[in-house]
Amino acid sequence: MRTKRAKAATTSGTSRIRPRTRPLRKRARTAAVGVLTGGLAAVSVLTTAGTAQAADTLGGAAAQSGRYFGAAVDPGHLGEGDYASALNREFNSVVAENAMKWDATEPNQGQFSFGAGDQVVSHARSKGMKVRGHTLVWHSQQPAWVRGLTGDSLRRAMIGHISGVAGHYRGQISSWDVVNEAFEWDGSRRQSNLQQQLGNGWIEEAFRAADAADPGAKLCYNDYGTDGINAKSDAIYRMVKDFRNRGVPIDCVGFQSHLDSNADLSTYRQNLQRFADLGVDVEITELDVGGSGAAQARVFRDVTAACVAVSRCTGITTWGVTDKYSWRSQETPLLFDSAYRKKAAYGAVLDVLNGARN
Ligand code: G3I
Repeated sequence: MRTKRAKAATTSGTSRIRPRTRPLRKRARTAAVGVLTGGLAAVSVLTTAGTAQAADTLGGAAAQSGRYFGAAVDPGHLGEGDYASALNREFNSVVAENAMKWDATEPNQGQFSFGAGDQVVSHARSKGMKVRGHTLVWHSQQPAWVRGLTGDSLRRAMIGHISGVAGHYRGQISSWDVVNEAFEWDGSRRQSNLQQQLGNGWIEEAFRAADAADPGAKLCYNDYGTDGINAKSDAIYRMVKDFRNRGVPIDCVGFQSHLDSNADLSTYRQNLQRFADLGVDVEITELDVGGSGAAQARVFRDVTAACVAVSRCTGITTWGVTDKYSWRSQETPLLFDSAYRKKAAYGAVLDVLNGARN
């Protein structure tokens, strides 16, 4: 059970990870505990001169500025030696790629199945890693029994699901993707069964239910195609601003950032900053970059640089450990290739993270 207050992390013989200097909000303290404990495994060592050496792992480098660097995991691969050692060495945060989604956790109404998700959580806790929760409510990967529901039946099902899953993991999740992908490219609401049956208020209802189930977790809205200032990110910005003005419990916005090597990132940092200025944290939640070599490395570098330039950007998660198991493996989008070798983009990310150490 995470405490709500970030503790200064001390370890015998190695450096202290300095807590973030800004005051932490209730939920953010939970995240910080994860960062502080999660970073211990790979913390940099103070030299005699008292200046920190560069860290040699992604999680260790990120922890130097109070951030995390995570990966989406499939518990089915945790028994593979190379997968587990890359995960345990390099990352201080995890998210279940599929194991905590609606179809996986509530295959039949009121009958919950947490085995795979619990595997991810227990692995993470054994390694001092944070755990992101993904995702409580999404139009995709709904179990068959949900699809035919209408009106209040669907509302009760949604709230029951949120309560059941967020309640099960209460105190173990640093931040939940409460709602995933509810907007279209033009900024209109996606006409999902949730939108059509429940009306515009369903997103707020979902956040309030998640807050009731786990008041200690940060509650995030998560989406893709928001990698700059555009019609979609504008619509989400308006929603977050409205939520903040009305006291709807929202603590962060997740930017999936499924990118290609020719991505236009000209307003990426500005976009992160404007959300942070609303008083929420921002997290890069599903980063992968199709391509290879220097072009791919540049995009990973620029995204990482944007995150470390925004104080409320609490961390980055890549959508997988290795190209071998990526959902877009043909595009080789991750930092480790199919043989778990570090790619050029790995070095680019590590350099930016080490450059950001406090
Ligand atoms: O578990 C079943 C298995 O029993 C069955 O034999 C197999 C073949 O049909 O399918 C398995 O389910 C697959 C599941 O991944 C678990 O492997 C689904 O078919 C497949 O559609 C699903 O794909 C996932 C996808 O979300 C679903 O939309 C990807 O792995 C996952 O990387 C992807 O992740 C999403 C994020 O959740 C949200 N943001 C976008 C991102 C990429 O689409």
